[in-house]
Amino acid sequence: MNSAEIRQKFLDFFASKQHQIVPSAPIVVKDDPTLMFINSGMAPFKDYFLGNKPAPYKRVTDTQKCLRVSGKHNDLEEVGYDTYHHTMFEMLGNWSFGDYFKKDALEWSWELLTEVYKLPKDRLYVSVFQGDDSENLPMDQDAFSIWKSMIAEDRILMGSKKDNFWEMGDTGPCGPCSEIHIDLRSEEERAQVDGKELVNNDHPQVVEIWNNVFMEFNRLADGSLVKLPAQHVDTGMGFERLCMAIQGKRSNYDTDVFQPLIQFVAQEAGVKYGQDEKTDIAIRVISDHIRAIAFTIADGQLPSNNKAGYVIRRILRRAVRYGFTFLNFKKPFLHKLAVVLANQMAHVFPELKQQLGFVQRVIEEEENAFLRTLDNGLKRLDALENSFKENNNIIDGKTAFELYDTFGFPLDLTALIAREKGLQVDEAGFSKEMEQQKSRSRNASATEQSDWVILQPDVVNEFIGYDCDTTDTHIVRYRQVKAKNKSEYHLVLDKTPFYAESGGQVGDTGFLISDTEQVEVLDTKKENDLILHITAKLPQNVEAGFRAEIAAERRNYIRKNHSATHLLHAALRTVLGEHVQQRGSLVNEKLLRFDFSHFAKIEDAELRQIEHIVNERVRQAIPLDERRNVPIDEAKNMGATALFGEKYGDFVRVITFGSDYSVELCGGTHVMNTGHIGYFKIVSESSVAAGVRRIEAFTATAAEEYMQQQLNELNAVREVLNTQSNVSGAVQKMQDDLKGLQKQLEAFELKQLTGMKDELAQKAVQVGGVNLIAQRVVLNSADYMKKLAFDMRQVVDNLVLILATEIDGKPQIAVMLSDNLVQEKNLNASTLVRELAKEIKGGGGGQPFYATAGGKDAAGLDAVTAKAPELVKSMING
Ligand code: ALA
Repeated sequence: MNSAEIRQKFLDFFASKQHQIVPSAPIVVKDDPTLMFINSGMAPFKDYFLGNKPAPYKRVTDTQKCLRVSGKHNDLEEVGYDTYHHTMFEMLGNWSFGDYFKKDALEWSWELLTEVYKLPKDRLYVSVFQGDDSENLPMDQDAFSIWKSMIAEDRILMGSKKDNFWEMGDTGPCGPCSEIHIDLRSEEERAQVDGKELVNNDHPQVVEIWNNVFMEFNRLADGSLVKLPAQHVDTGMGFERLCMAIQGKRSNYDTDVFQPLIQFVAQEAGVKYGQDEKTDIAIRVISDHIRAIAFTIADGQLPSNNKAGYVIRRILRRAVRYGFTFLNFKKPFLHKLAVVLANQMAHVFPELKQQLGFVQRVIEEEENAFLRTLDNGLKRLDALENSFKENNNIIDGKTAFELYDTFGFPLDLTALIAREKGLQVDEAGFSKEMEQQKSRSRNASATEQSDWVILQPDVVNEFIGYDCDTTDTHIVRYRQVKAKNKSEYHLVLDKTPFYAESGGQVGDTGFLISDTEQVEVLDTKKENDLILHITAKLPQNVEAGFRAEIAAERRNYIRKNHSATHLLHAALRTVLGEHVQQRGSLVNEKLLRFDFSHFAKIEDAELRQIEHIVNERVRQAIPLDERRNVPIDEAKNMGATALFGEKYGDFVRVITFGSDYSVELCGGTHVMNTGHIGYFKIVSESSVAAGVRRIEAFTATAAEEYMQQQLNELNAVREVLNTQSNVSGAVQKMQDDLKGLQKQLEAFELKQLTGMKDELAQKAVQVGGVNLIAQRVVLNSADYMKKLAFDMRQVVDNLVLILATEIDGKPQIAVMLSDNLVQEKNLNASTLVRELAKEIKGGGGGQPFYATAGGKDAAGLDAVTAKAPELVKSMING
């Protein structure tokens, strides 16, 4: 069975048990501050477990793209070293939302594994939660009894809280679980050691393949467990491990999921996989990491310097570094691998193939940048080599940490290079620096979140802000969040006109008003489907009735900017082409910012055309056509632009401004007709990342003010030029005049210099057998001073020339000597200039025959020339 068949059989099996097959959610999480990436199949369904939102289907199945590289579930460091952990993996799952429970779940998993996939029963073990006294949780007797009817009792193992109580994160839904493990060792190995002994013992051939979680509890911030309103099933089977088991391989990497990637990397590197542990690890790291990198970028997360973007950057750098160090890849290579992956996955996750050119460009750019950084780090190491040698051949912890932090060198790379140079790394010192940085960032980001205080259970918050700006409402739950120096409250209302930040549109601000008080809402954010009204204080009476009022005028500007963003998006596609895809946006009351994929700078003429199209649409006053609850397929048939990386439900909202112009899936707020936008003005166009351009624009009053400002400036210029028409012609003429004058001035100055030369030659006096000229002169630039000094050498022999002048208000001295004086009399211009510079509180230097100095005290210039004869005399004699 190939991997595609294995995946399909899973989905078909659960569809036959009345499960709805749903697509994988994007890997990047948008509206959940507790999670950066989807880390398990259940994460997109969190709200259904918690009862925040009713589930649209009672039974669901899917294959979910997951990433375990941050937070509670983090496997990054193991990846590549072992053969069964991954950064990105697919989790096959089936769910019951308050429907079937343990019996069906366990029986179906047994049926699928042993009857459909035909895995040998005598190689399977199951585990059951043994209970935990500290949590007051009993043993899972039900699961035990269900298993006993299907599998020999000695294959049912008892597991502790660590292995058999699954939790999504530090807080959130959780419950006892029952795992299924498989022993893939050879018969000989099995004869020697009982498989039972190796379950949950990090053996690469005795691995967990499936976990059935019985969600019954919610873990609160104070650590306590409360019962969920209903009982659910959450299962997760690691797809890549399942393929290993069914295909009879000893490693996930030997399956057809990874082999195309592995073979490609090996070929590019000119090595064979399976012959050397070090290169094998590097090949595995790369083949694994490219999946995480490519799919996350395709789902809308660009590598960057913070949060989710930084996690991706780190994974990418880890891959580049393994290639660089162990496979001798000195040029970008990862981006080539993305093609192999895109083709391989096109039938399950088409989003990568659809955006391949873009994803490749982003990856290649990152690779280039990191290879440059690596190179700089190597140079830094080279430059410090001597100082390490003086330090008993040790690279100190601080430097090792700097290499890690600034140049992306992990300790093992530094250690490797050190060994090649006969050096050692102070690893303890490195760890100390690392710990210090961790504690710094821990302190900076520590937040403390209290549990929800529920005032009205089972009330689902409703957003009514598409239709009204105010409403009567009640608080249904609240909590306090404390971060460094700051405390805020999150209030959830039963009904709210406040739009929570999403889709680039900022959250509303406004007030909650009761008979006795008024509380300001500072911002509105989403946590999954909860709308959080953020306030600095808690109302004194949280149970009062409130009037919720958004800052309506602010919202009006936001509407204009959001609708203008749609018009802009459509105009970009018209002018630049269909490859334009939204990559990010910001819509607030001041401006709109739109990031999109496009590979070249947008020419001025194109920008004007785009702007013109948008303003035409504004003038046409196209009415808003807003449709809610449109079935997704129907929306697609309407030609709606869907965004990659967005999770769309089965029903969506469609915003249309002219059915042949702009049709978008969008949850934001919009103007009633495009005429309300008033006027649209692009104010900047720039690049934000490889293949991503950014346009910023103003609408309405802001656009008007911007244009007025530009006009004011132009008028000011007109006034200065004293001309009403053809301003640019007048400025051009001024520039031309200026150039002419500059030329004249130069000619004049050169002439003056010649005169000065003759004059100076007359001033030579004999001092100790040399011709000394020490004079104050008036010069305009250091260049002229130099020219004059060099010219004087041609005119006077046996010369000691000392020029003292002021250039741009600063005192300057030049000393020029004839060559014979340097050679025969041992005179030195640098020594002389330094001695003279004392008079102007300055210093300088140069060559033996010509040196200059600058200073702070122009009043000392006369003293320079006065002091010269004696000084020169003493130097000649000395
Ligand atoms: N949520 C469970 C897991 O990830 C199934 O193991």
